[in-house]
Amino acid sequence: MTDFSTWMLTCQTHMENVLADSLPAAGIAPSRLHDAMRYAVLGGGKRVRPLLAFAAGEATGADRSRVQYAAAAVELIHAYSLIHDDMPAMDDDALRRGKPTVHVEFDEATALLTGDALQSLAFEMLSTEPLADDAASQLAMVQLLAQAAGSRGMAGGQAIDLDSVNTALDLPELEFMHIHKTGALIRASVLLGARCGTLADQDAVALDHYAKCIGLAFQVVDDVLDAEASTATLGKTAGKDAAQNKPTYVSLLGVTRARELAQELCTDAHAALEPLGPRADRLRQLADFVVERSF
Ligand code: IPE
Ligand code: IPE
Ligand code: MG
Ligand code: MG
Ligand code: MG
Repeated sequence: MTDFSTWMLTCQTHMENVLADSLPAAGIAPSRLHDAMRYAVLGGGKRVRPLLAFAAGEATGADRSRVQYAAAAVELIHAYSLIHDDMPAMDDDALRRGKPTVHVEFDEATALLTGDALQSLAFEMLSTEPLADDAASQLAMVQLLAQAAGSRGMAGGQAIDLDSVNTALDLPELEFMHIHKTGALIRASVLLGARCGTLADQDAVALDHYAKCIGLAFQVVDDVLDAEASTATLGKTAGKDAAQNKPTYVSLLGVTRARELAQELCTDAHAALEPLGPRADRLRQLADFVVERSF
């Protein structure tokens, strides 16, 4: 098995190429929108969701020529969510992935439309490229992403996030918000990647449990990094959550306990993968990466 950083770099490069080929070419009308789509998606980000899809695909023997489109579809939804998250009506951020945010570099209307168009492109990709052995299985994959992105998933979590500014959530409420705004797309990444291969029922249960733990851990660590890391390291403005009085795992539990909790979730994620054996080694490495990352 190649070492983790080599594997990660190979997947990230591959993802970049697939995304670059799938996005409308720059300069094609409407060129401002197409330029903004490429600006938002290409040349940045850790690509954690695609990495999870690739790793889950490796656990179920999936062909990478399938997984790449499931991975790209989730990354497009994620990129759209970041554009809208950064807009003045939401978190009002000027920096993302080390560059000016889309509404700053372009304008607010273009940022809205860029998010809209990326979401549509994600579903076009997921419904056009052959990802499953039969049409019913592929339709189920489209439904899975739709639910993860919608009002009972990411968009719903974002609505709760905005509603929660200046309020004190309790732990179950905070968990509910995080599971939705971030956990839902992370879970979809794992399940879609897995479904590109042959997924036994008991493996689906194990992977689902793994994905839920990692999804929550991911946002707990995001909260910690917002409080502890620098703007230069993060490529986005640090200290925003406290400045905007958002309830986070750090505001509720403090940094030390939040980090412990992320570690506990990582342990649970590893335990969930036990029945899968060595097939799930990349997923194990990714669980550690999610919790130990510095940006
Ligand atoms: C940031 O996600 C927003 C959250 C859902 C926490 P990432 O930390 O995955 O951002 P990129 O894709 O690497 O820029
Ligand atoms: C973002 O959460 C979640 C989504 C984009 C769905 P945050 O608002 O904490 O993400 P960052 O910190 O701006 O990346
Ligand atoms: Mg936000
Ligand atoms: Mg934000
Ligand atoms: Mg954050």
